[in-house]
Amino acid sequence: MNKTGIFYSFNTLNSAKVAKKIEELIGKENIDTVDAENVTESQFLKYDNLILAVPTWFDGEMPTYWDEFKPALEDMDLTGKTVAIFGLGDQKNYPENFGDAIGIMATLVENAGAKVTGFTSTAGYVFEKSRGVRDGEFVGLMIDVENQNDLTDERVKNWVEAIKKDFK
Ligand SMILES: Cc1cc2nc3c(=O)[nH]c(=O)nc-3n(C[C@H](O)[C@H](O)[C@H](O)COP(=O)(O)O)c2cc1C
Repeated sequence: MNKTGIFYSFNTLNSAKVAKKIEELIGKENIDTVDAENVTESQFLKYDNLILAVPTWFDGEMPTYWDEFKPALEDMDLTGKTVAIFGLGDQKNYPENFGDAIGIMATLVENAGAKVTGFTSTAGYVFEKSRGVRDGEFVGLMIDVENQNDLTDERVKNWVEAIKKDFK
């Protein structure tokens, strides 16, 4: 498997915790960590396998650091790249926008030519609406540390096993 780049904000608590679990499961020697706060186009283009941490903020939006990178993403050619997205969200406090940001990011990278992998079932989550859901599945992995943290380890483990199969 080619080296994977995992992109998350080093300033976050929750995304960073999940990212560290993923790094361990993929194997530290197989993965580079990149701070999404200062991400550049060349860092993004360096990897064929990318994992992006996209928590939802601001009632259904991406965090500021990803939003600032959006124009660059819209201009990039990500053909041939495989992208797996995980999101953090709070289904109890934001049931109408649960994990919206993973959907926003999935559409952005797909429009740039990437293949998005790692879709997961919505079974076991309780919410009303999400832009992160397509045809009944999340377009990535949703982690809810506020309400279901006891499920985090298992969700991450199953997801990493699945995405590894799609990474080249
Ligand atoms: C101001 C604010 C707005 C939020 N908006 C949403 C939202 O619209 N949808 C959602 O699913 N979670 C929302 N959340 C929950 C966060 O996604 C959740 O706390 C997550 O764990 C934060 O991850 P991070 O620490 O990696 O940024 C919000 C949290 C805050 C504090």
